[in-house]
Amino acid sequence: SLAQPSESGSTPIIRKKLNGYVGFANLPNQVHRKSVRKGFQFTAMVVGESGLGKSTLINTLFNTRLYPPKEPLPPSAERPQTVAIESISADIEENGVRLRLTVVDTPGFGDFVNNEDSWKPIVDNIESRFDLYLEQENRVNRQKIVDNRVHACLYFIQPTGHSLKPIDVEFMRQLHTKVNLIPIIAKADTLTDDEVADFKARILADIAHHNIHIFQAPTYENEDEEALAEAEEIAGKIPFAVVGSDRLVKTPDGREVRGRAYPWGVVEVDNEDHCDFVKLRQMLVRTYMEELREYTNDVLYENWRTEKLLSMGVVQDQTVFKEINPASRMQEERVMHEAKLAKMEAEMKMVFQQKVQEKEAKLKQSEEELYARHREMKEALEKQRMDLEDKKRRIESGRPLTPDKTNTKVKRGFLRA
Ligand code: GTP
Repeated sequence: SLAQPSESGSTPIIRKKLNGYVGFANLPNQVHRKSVRKGFQFTAMVVGESGLGKSTLINTLFNTRLYPPKEPLPPSAERPQTVAIESISADIEENGVRLRLTVVDTPGFGDFVNNEDSWKPIVDNIESRFDLYLEQENRVNRQKIVDNRVHACLYFIQPTGHSLKPIDVEFMRQLHTKVNLIPIIAKADTLTDDEVADFKARILADIAHHNIHIFQAPTYENEDEEALAEAEEIAGKIPFAVVGSDRLVKTPDGREVRGRAYPWGVVEVDNEDHCDFVKLRQMLVRTYMEELREYTNDVLYENWRTEKLLSMGVVQDQTVFKEINPASRMQEERVMHEAKLAKMEAEMKMVFQQKVQEKEAKLKQSEEELYARHREMKEALEKQRMDLEDKKRRIESGRPLTPDKTNTKVKRGFLRA
């Protein structure tokens, strides 16, 4: 056995060989069964000028009439003035696997005289779906979170054969950090093979020049050669030059295929020599649907969420939010609160002591006053008593009380007589 220290450095991980059946090799099957039972959710957005074949391509991709055939608006009809957002959902099933597919259409994009802000309602829509998800995550009960976030955006480029138009660049620049962008050359049957190759090269150069991030099929270490080759093949076809058709046509050799019939022949949708439809479907559905969902959740949504919460925090409190760790923030708040309490207590003690001292001083003063009055009264009484005793002694001894004037006269007269 081979011992290796684990990431935390404490318990070493020991690689062991099993001696018999245990059963955890069946884990992938458990996951498989469970996810099949739960079903899958996928939301794709289609953006591009009207008439580029968006509805037709979605119908072709999922092999279903998600969009009923549309009648073009009569010239007299009122056209909407802004980009509208419409979404359509359908439950589709293939070999027992259910997929709830939602397609978000953006009619009106690029259809006005001034298309400067055509991207804005689309960004708003993508962000409001993130908002909705964040709100669900923050609920007390998070049992049933519905994921309405856009997992991929198919951007339809007009088959001009030149290069990207300003509206294409502006749209992708505004959207590439919020959604998995998958650029598509629409109606590729209107260009020759050489024109397609040149057009692709110019589009890729434009995308690189403007630092636009488009979705790339991820490759992992230890992946088998087949998977690596598939990823490489898919990456080599971006931007996918596609042809859409939900009709069956007969080829000159008698086969019935999905395609478009021209006087000079048939363009087959599912023929890799004719267009990149098969590779687009592989990227979007067969091989990388889960990667698209994962990248949306782990990178695009996560970045948006961090930015949103940070910006909310900065508006609320510029300094406190720098401390992102909530535990240490709580600890800091507790220490501050305790210090405040201690200060209040000390102040109250001081005030109390002061009041007691004042009261004691007052009491002492009135006590002294009382004593003084008591002494005074006692002295006065003592004096009165001594006077009275003096009087009493004189009366008893027969002597006149106090020699006054009348008495003196009488005494003199008495003496003279
Ligand atoms: P809006 O709903 O107005 O935005 O149009 P859209 O982009 O959904 O286009 P839609 O799928 O309705 O197709 C418009 C027309 O283009 C139809 O006549 C389609 O038959 C045709 N069309 C669709 N896909 C292709 C294609 O790959 N090549 C060619 N040549 N025509 C196509």
